[in-house]
Amino acid sequence: MKSVAASTILGIGHYVPSKVVTNDDLAKLMSTSDEWIQQRTGIKERRYIEHSGIGASDLALPAVKMALEHAGLASEKDVDAIVFATLSPDHNFPGSGCFLGHKLGLPGVPALDVRNQCSGFLYGLSIADAWVRGGVYRHVLLVGAEVHSTGIELADRGRDVAVLFGDGAGAAIIGPATDPDQGLRSIKLHADGSGAKDLWLEAPASAYVPRLTKEMMDEGKHFPAMNGKQVFRWATEKMPEVSRAVLEEAKISAGDIDLFVPHQANLRINQLVCQKLGIPESKAVANIEKYGNTTAATIPLGLSEAWREGRCRRGSNVLMAAFGSGYTWGAAVLKL
Ligand SMILES: CC(C)(COP(=O)(O)OP(=O)(O)OC[C@H]1O[C@@H](n2cnc3c(N)ncnc32)[C@H](O)[C@@H]1OP(=O)(O)O)[C@@H](O)C(=O)NCCC(=O)NCCS
Repeated sequence: MKSVAASTILGIGHYVPSKVVTNDDLAKLMSTSDEWIQQRTGIKERRYIEHSGIGASDLALPAVKMALEHAGLASEKDVDAIVFATLSPDHNFPGSGCFLGHKLGLPGVPALDVRNQCSGFLYGLSIADAWVRGGVYRHVLLVGAEVHSTGIELADRGRDVAVLFGDGAGAAIIGPATDPDQGLRSIKLHADGSGAKDLWLEAPASAYVPRLTKEMMDEGKHFPAMNGKQVFRWATEKMPEVSRAVLEEAKISAGDIDLFVPHQANLRINQLVCQKLGIPESKAVANIEKYGNTTAATIPLGLSEAWREGRCRRGSNVLMAAFGSGYTWGAAVLKL
């Protein structure tokens, strides 16, 4: 296949499960309150899967259908490769991309899982962009999907993390840009493992014999643990820094950004990031109040909703930025 000048988002879709869980619902399970959660995070409610047996690849399916239709692609058969970003894969292995490919009826189509937490969609975008530009694959299905509700501790001990996360999915079709003016202008990714244990899930761990014991479970090591203040500090520093770097490389000023799609971890983080970048909050996607943090799904979910609400269109300049566990972070700027 021939290499192409630039890749772009040909279509995008999203899906959230129907079960709404409010802050008051959580207050029945742990010592927390609607007031505390809203004040600290901006979250009012989130979605959980309706019943056991729904994995990240199942949430991805409706989002993929929406993205294919949006891209004007006739069928799943137009997908040449799958990149699936998730920290909550259906099973430990194989990757959710394999499960999704099978559900889509795509035998033989390569499927790569990306394990980069909240930055997963941007890491996946960088891979999809390289494949499309290099002529390796023409249409890359890029998914961000998470089922958090089955992996958080819905009790006092886990309340700091539990109130933040929700389930959801987003999907994008990355393909060649048709207009020379269009496409991904700059993307930058980073990681710093010195903060790995500030937001992690300790077990099961291949480093432990055995990987998971009853004692570890009693201590809650199979639930995510977080140093919230430290994550907050890093996020508010790194998201503006990497956003400035992509804007500079793309030679686009913050004032020319039509839509900013930041990762949705905390409304206060994003308000500070907007302030530091000089981007008005009215241009930033803020759907955390409805969905909480859906990790790898936040960016495609936010962009998909914003596109359908008419907040961006072909030709719009879009900035995306994320920060999360790892630490990993990144940003991308593109002309839709
Ligand atoms: C999690 C976060 C909202 C907590 O806000 P904070 O102002 O830092 O709050 P603290 O962690 O200092 O906790 C303050 C108090 O609230 C309590 N608390 C924690 N979670 C609570 C909850 N869900 N409900 C009520 N109280 C809670 C703490 O125990 C603490 O009590 P203490 O003062 O008696 O010790 C905030 O740190 C944050 O958003 N960090 C970034 C998290 C993030 O982005 N994670 C995802 C990364 S992708």
